[in-house]
Amino acid sequence: MIHHELIVVGGGLAGLRAAVEARNAGIDVAILSQVWPGRSHSGAAQGGVNAALANHPESADDTWEKHAFDTVKGSDYLADQDAVAQMTKDAIPVIYQLDQWGCPFSRFDNGTIAQRPFGGAGYPRTCYGADKTGHYMLHTMVERAVKAEVPMYVEWFVTRLMVDEGVCRGVVAYDMIKGGFEAFTADAVIMATGGAGRTYSNSTNAIISTGYGMAMAYHAGVPLKDLEFVQFHPTGLLTTNILMTEGARGEGGYLLNGEGERFMQRYAPKAMELAPRDITSRSIQTEINEGRGIDGKGFVYLDLRHLGAEKILEKLPGIRDLAIHFEGVDPIEEPIPIVPSQHYSMGGIDTDMDGATDLAGFYAAGECACVSVHGGNRLGGNSLLETVVFGRRAGAAAAQHIRNSGPSPDMTVLAGRTVAAVEAQVGGLAARGAAGEDPYAVRAEMTTTMKDHFGVFRDAATMHAGLDKMLALKERVGNVGLRHTGGVLNLDMIRTVELEGMVDVALGIAAGALARTESRGSHSRTDYPDRDDTHWLKHTLAHYHPEGPRLGSKPVTLGMFEPQERKY
Ligand code: FUM
Repeated sequence: MIHHELIVVGGGLAGLRAAVEARNAGIDVAILSQVWPGRSHSGAAQGGVNAALANHPESADDTWEKHAFDTVKGSDYLADQDAVAQMTKDAIPVIYQLDQWGCPFSRFDNGTIAQRPFGGAGYPRTCYGADKTGHYMLHTMVERAVKAEVPMYVEWFVTRLMVDEGVCRGVVAYDMIKGGFEAFTADAVIMATGGAGRTYSNSTNAIISTGYGMAMAYHAGVPLKDLEFVQFHPTGLLTTNILMTEGARGEGGYLLNGEGERFMQRYAPKAMELAPRDITSRSIQTEINEGRGIDGKGFVYLDLRHLGAEKILEKLPGIRDLAIHFEGVDPIEEPIPIVPSQHYSMGGIDTDMDGATDLAGFYAAGECACVSVHGGNRLGGNSLLETVVFGRRAGAAAAQHIRNSGPSPDMTVLAGRTVAAVEAQVGGLAARGAAGEDPYAVRAEMTTTMKDHFGVFRDAATMHAGLDKMLALKERVGNVGLRHTGGVLNLDMIRTVELEGMVDVALGIAAGALARTESRGSHSRTDYPDRDDTHWLKHTLAHYHPEGPRLGSKPVTLGMFEPQERKY
């Protein structure tokens, strides 16, 4: 049994930022991460991070209030406006702090942090480091955590929360290098494990973005909020769904259909390619569905050729490399075939602005959390921002909680009991072995079901069929067998254990989508094409039940901006 006052699960930007804040507040905090933190999925974020710095010549009168308005409008009015105000206000000092910590942002000629236009924003306010912004921010934060001497348990896979009498007391984790399960007791836990992209087969996300952190909270009784809001990024590479940054359109890239037409003029005549992602993805999908894809096929082009080699090499070198290596296309010479791809979970663990949840001592930050600042549709560049703003706040709040709590009780019995329960679970999987259901077959059916039935456009019949499939998979996941029983670096065990949680989160997406009889943000129903503020200006809450989610709701916090029609 290992004890730290605070355990942070996940070594991406939100987890690192939370840990640094708590450490600097004098808390004994440790990070547990499945991968070396510098390899977390935060590093895949490309195009930038939003803050109303007003550095761009066209954004001299930009303010945090304008950033807040764009965020709320982009969210289709489902974001909580107090949280949005907090995030957009904090954005400015947070970016300057990263700058001072050495984050190598690109610069304008006058030395200020460079900003580019991004979707759904009235001003060019996305700060960037070429097209590797997440990578730069992540490595800056890793350095801060190393400097603060935060212990990192790297290649530890957290399997379960330890909860006693309504209080979170730590986690159980698998030591991937040495084998075996260990209890980590703590006075508080922050979950920062990222999104649930891999519940879909067509995701831009890393393999580790499974939603399992959300599932652990859900299984421990914490509700998940607004799961039905799944973002499809307009431009994923055709054959792999690898992200082609929105920054490419921010730098002037075009979207072209099979007729060579910049079709966005039909859907968003003012914003064109820089409409918010939900609208741009729907526009692309409509072109494809109506036979105007390239050669009538299921993709369109992202065309950067007119930007010229110099600009592409300076501003977009990463996506050029990716397009060459994974699609065989050099964007300097040829247009890039792209398709909308699952990219981001707007929903997640229900938290307040300090990352606190209904479970005492348990916090969440980053994509696994739903504060909610993104509502029905996140603006590009607000994800990296959310990680550092709310990671910092969760770290501070957890530190305060620890200071306010009395001395830790003896957790030996709880730790022994929870480790034994996890060992029994894995023992049961191993006992079924190859005679049990094949977890990879179940996973593949789940991810294709989510792609085919809960995609860019949705309707009741398609979703009912998808929900039935998901309920059947829920039955089957209870019978999966573990093929490989070795103790050390057993990735087969990890993939098998996390599957049940993935299915539960996917079921939450499915149930929430079917229940919400309106179209809002990324949730676009052909059978209910309009937003319905009378009945649905509210958050969905999914509560775990072994037979499937129980849905409830929670009001949206308004206050700054009245809901309006969204036109771009
Ligand atoms: O397109 C992008 O560079 C992605 C940014 C984001 O998801 O915020």
